Amino acid sequence: MKEEKIELIKDGKRLDGRDFEDLRPIKIEVGVLKRADGSCYFELGNNKALAAVYGPREKHPRHLQDAKTAVVTYRYNMAPFSVDDRKRPGPDRRSVEVSKVSRESLDPVILKEYYPKTAIDVYVELLQSDAGTRTAGINAASVALAAAGIPMRDLVSSVAVGKIDGEVVLDLNAVEDNHGEADMPVAMVARTDTITMLQMDGRFTKDEFERGLKLAKKACHEIYELQRTALIEKYSKSVGEGEE
Ligand code: CDP
Repeated sequence: MKEEKIELIKDGKRLDGRDFEDLRPIKIEVGVLKRADGSCYFELGNNKALAAVYGPREKHPRHLQDAKTAVVTYRYNMAPFSVDDRKRPGPDRRSVEVSKVSRESLDPVILKEYYPKTAIDVYVELLQSDAGTRTAGINAASVALAAAGIPMRDLVSSVAVGKIDGEVVLDLNAVEDNHGEADMPVAMVARTDTITMLQMDGRFTKDEFERGLKLAKKACHEIYELQRTALIEKYSKSVGEGEE
């Protein structure tokens, strides 16, 4: 439920000092978990997301196998300590929904037909949450899938746009999300501008929607470059330093 309205823009700046079109600081680390086939830590401002990918591996139980393709699962989980009011552990309606849309945002880029009868399991854990967690999770998962060596058409990048105090802004934090008028998370293949997820909470006019989408596309291009650079840095270093 939305809380009472507070002023979110003062002297043309947002409460955290950002301009309307600024992303929060992003940090990406690839290959942080030893047991996973691919992993990624993704920080977006105060969001801290960890993604682990396992597979392709034989899908169990067998009746859940697909004879033609791999079956992709995605589990989004917010740690109880990741938010101000402790979150009850375990799945809930929200995490089921976020898991579903996140899986669907990545599904189109994964070349699942290469691995019939297998499972590709993606786990995303939110250690700290400050709105935009599904977008941080998708960004982390996309890099972790690539790090696992899973053949993909491209990376998926994700960000939210929203409306606060009547202004269209990029990448809402939790205060802005709680007190703002609209929030629209988007995921896309940045290089081809192919949208793979678009959700909307609140209302935009047609013009605001179009401006918001343009802003999201621009930010996804920036995020894509950071994801790509993180992967290149990790693997060019690994070869050079004789890591596994
Ligand atoms: O995180 P995201 O924006 O993708 O999803 P949301 O459902 O719009 O949640 C926005 C934010 O609300 C989360 O990132 C958390 O900071 C907060 N939240 C919370 O404090 N407790 C919950 N049980 C769920 C969300």
